[in-house]
Amino acid sequence: MLFPGFERVWTPVLPSRRLKHSPVGIRLAGEKIVLFRGKDGAIGALVDRCPHRGVELSLGKVGEDGCLACPFHGWRFGADGTARLVPLNPDAKLERLGATALPVREIGELLWIYTAAESPPAEPVAPEALVEPGWRRTYLEVTWNCHWTRAMENMLDTPHLPFVHRSTIGRQLARIMTPSSRLEIDWEEMPWGGRQHARMDGKGELAWLDFHRPNMMALHIPIPGRRFRMHALVLPVDDRTTRLIVASARDFLTLPLLDPIFNKMNAIVAGQDQAVVESSDPVEVPVAGEEVSVATDRATLHFRKYYLSELRDGR
Ligand code: FES
Ligand SMILES: [Fe+2]
Repeated sequence: MLFPGFERVWTPVLPSRRLKHSPVGIRLAGEKIVLFRGKDGAIGALVDRCPHRGVELSLGKVGEDGCLACPFHGWRFGADGTARLVPLNPDAKLERLGATALPVREIGELLWIYTAAESPPAEPVAPEALVEPGWRRTYLEVTWNCHWTRAMENMLDTPHLPFVHRSTIGRQLARIMTPSSRLEIDWEEMPWGGRQHARMDGKGELAWLDFHRPNMMALHIPIPGRRFRMHALVLPVDDRTTRLIVASARDFLTLPLLDPIFNKMNAIVAGQDQAVVESSDPVEVPVAGEEVSVATDRATLHFRKYYLSELRDGR
């Protein structure tokens, strides 16, 4: 079975600018995948295991014909996985010798994969600021030693802001918080997941935060007259490794040379979370009743229910 616990979902996997002439090997939910782009621009996503003798196709090269050539015996595969040439074997039955292909799309500035070797029932739905024109976006990739569900919950968790991020994105909350403060979390179901609004002591709306199934967070940061969004794309690598793509989108200070400043800010914020999230025990989010929860856990409990009932056990 491919992608146990993360099957039949669309997920972004890579900023598309990372895919140039050479194939790129990634790991997603325990599976090795190779991405490549042919001369005609067609993108292939194959299980990174040659059907002949199991070596990594990502060690091979993309040829003029747009095929990915295996480094071992030179078999050539098209973007759809079909074997196009088996050197030294002119009688080979090519139709029986293909690699396993996965549905792949380029949407906005990201490559997306569907986690099953079958036609997807629907197309991926991306957070709007990652696809709409008019935004300048940055992408930062970091790796954490944790199960992806712990990282995903961290991204949906508002009450940790004045503690973990009191010197950065939680500064405002930390300043107005008193020992008797109450943080209210409203949750609104959406076709693609849910939207959370948070209020401290009934005072104004701080920001809204979206959960896009299965593994994306979009945070709207209110700045008068400007639009600024933070996204976390939380990619399972294996049971103890998670790759995060932290993407910001802004409609101000849009000069590309300012991108490193936004990436640096994101790196500082993500760095504040890392050791705390990596210390989570058990590694994966547990079933109901194994941890205690309170009212401010509303959003993370929604994610937990979705993960446990639909993704991990439900397919
Ligand atoms: S292992 Fe790939 S062609 Fe032989
Ligand atoms: Fe955080």
